[in-house]
Amino acid sequence: MKIIEINNLSRYYGSQSDKVYALKNITLAIDRGDFVAIIGQSGSGKSTLLNILGCLDLPSSGSYKINDVEIANTSADKRAELRCKTFGFIFQRYNLLSDLSALENVVLPSIYYGLDAKTREEKSQKLLSDLNMGDRALHKPNELSGGQQQRVSIARALMNGGDIILADEPTGALDSKSGEKVMEIIKDLHKSGRTVILVTHDQKIASHANRIIEIKDGNIVSDTRNAANIYAHDKAKPSEIKNSFNYFARQFAESFKSSVKAVTAHKMRSFLTMLSIIIGITSVVCVIALGEGSKENIMDRIKSIGTNTVYIFPGAGFGDKDASKIKTLKPSDADILSRLSYVDNVSPIVTHEGLIIYKNKTAQASLQGVSAEFLELNGQKLESGRRFNVSEVKSAAALAIVDANTKKTLFGKRDPIGEIIIFNRQPLKIIGVMSKEDEFGPPTSNLEIYIPYVTAMYKVIGSQDIAGITVKISDAINSHLAEENLIKVLTAVHGKKDFFTLNSDSVQKIMEDMMNSLTLLISSIAFISLVVGGVGVMNIMLVSVTERTREIGVRMAIGAKRKNILLQFLSEAVLLSLIGGFIGVMLSLALALVFNSLTADFKMILSTNAILAALFFSSATGILFGYAPARNAANLNPIDALARD
Ligand SMILES: Nc1ncnc2c1ncn2[C@@H]1O[C@H](COP(=O)(O)OP(=O)(O)OP(=O)(O)O)[C@@H](O)[C@H]1O
Ligand SMILES: [Mg+2]
Repeated sequence: MKIIEINNLSRYYGSQSDKVYALKNITLAIDRGDFVAIIGQSGSGKSTLLNILGCLDLPSSGSYKINDVEIANTSADKRAELRCKTFGFIFQRYNLLSDLSALENVVLPSIYYGLDAKTREEKSQKLLSDLNMGDRALHKPNELSGGQQQRVSIARALMNGGDIILADEPTGALDSKSGEKVMEIIKDLHKSGRTVILVTHDQKIASHANRIIEIKDGNIVSDTRNAANIYAHDKAKPSEIKNSFNYFARQFAESFKSSVKAVTAHKMRSFLTMLSIIIGITSVVCVIALGEGSKENIMDRIKSIGTNTVYIFPGAGFGDKDASKIKTLKPSDADILSRLSYVDNVSPIVTHEGLIIYKNKTAQASLQGVSAEFLELNGQKLESGRRFNVSEVKSAAALAIVDANTKKTLFGKRDPIGEIIIFNRQPLKIIGVMSKEDEFGPPTSNLEIYIPYVTAMYKVIGSQDIAGITVKISDAINSHLAEENLIKVLTAVHGKKDFFTLNSDSVQKIMEDMMNSLTLLISSIAFISLVVGGVGVMNIMLVSVTERTREIGVRMAIGAKRKNILLQFLSEAVLLSLIGGFIGVMLSLALALVFNSLTADFKMILSTNAILAALFFSSATGILFGYAPARNAANLNPIDALARD
């Protein structure tokens, strides 16, 4: 019974006009269970013929049928399936994968077949034992002799049954003794019912076969039969997985396992691939953490402005060039405003620059006359001492609260509470010191002291001009509505609008908007570094594909479909990116720890969301940038891939 039928088949290389024929108009049929040797000189076309027989290559013209199926009309996947289930290849140079042990090499075809782990483990062990390789099963190919490697490759060819054994110079790289041993095994394979097609240039090797076909310059020149011992036993096929979901899940798990192997086997290459992702993810996470930290820092400061507060200043707006000369606000304005139902309390602010004298020290300072509630209103904290109360303000008590700068300048490390300072000839008793970091605005080296505004007006400055009014609106009232109303009231009192207002909520809103756009800016810079990382992954994966073309060829020859190769390289890219992402996150954590222990008032804040996003993006980068190289690998022509060194 014919298993293989070739009709008028040609294979040429080169362009249409400049054809070089490796095979020319070959017609040939091979019976099931036969043992055929193809013999001929170097360059005669033997390997070309065998590769076409094994569906590694396609004919340029003519027909090739296996079991009456025309191969030219089949899909790449169908041909992969034939290589997987029907053929068993034995190569001159063994073509074992060097990262895998003998056993793992033998198991490989059954993974593409979809066999379960237990069955394939048992089967590969048995095959290796049958070939006297049981004790060498866990060795890598480079720890085995040529003959031993060839036996491993024979075991691999038999793993999925190997109905048709295709052997290209199987003894070509072996000494005569190992060669004989291999020929014995091949003869046994024939006796066990397999069809064997063997390519050799050695007449002696060919004489083991039933039938010898000699080719020369791509033509069959003789076809002789020595013996007719055909053994066509039916082989029991290993049961295959029909459920496509299970098959896919298993392929996925196997791809993942093999990518773990590939990653660990080539540590330097893996590290270099990961490096770009590590840098990308670390910068993303750190930049976001820094952004979050500064945001929180600024938000804390914003909160210290106080909420539901409206500030009223004389003039038309900030930057009014006559601002210092405009004196349109009066203490009576503050009184009027304090009587409004929606106003909690009001603090006029008067300011004055002058000299503070303490014993023999003097310093330039700015004095602010404020209400009893002012400090509270602005959320400012005291480092020590107390605030002044309402009756002290009304009675123009000569009390002062100094800021940390003043304390440092005049008192050094000593406690200033209870000491008397003189400002504009007015003695003032210090009752409190303000803590530094809670002051709103940029840190200044200005000395500031706060005293009751009545004291400031009548005892220190001697004028009732005020620099501004701080109005605290009841919490239940919308500050914007209140602001509009305040403006109406004051405009009516003054006869015109000769002041401007600032709402703490608007200030907060503006600051928040600024912070958000800052975060966006920072994140987009971080995103760019991630893209750069992804391009790095793609580069190394492309190099890796080129470097491993032969491995891809071997995998295809033993039955890997395109999607198997795609899945393998893709899962490698994703794995590398994920590990890189993980290392990047760890590195960021370490950096944040160091950073936060070095700086006091500014913290890096790592959020779980940022970390999860980083890991998500790193695997997405793997898929995105790993896809092109993986597809390149999957689209390789098996024979081209195998021919590559
Ligand atoms: N990819 C290719 N591109 C161009 N020419 C090729 C290619 N592969 C093979 N050939 C040519 O086809 C012819 C047959 O090559 P083939 O490899 O089949 O020879 P062979 O009989 O196996 O030789 P050997 O005994 O040395 O292995 C040779 O002339 C070779 O140069
Ligand atoms: Mg050859």
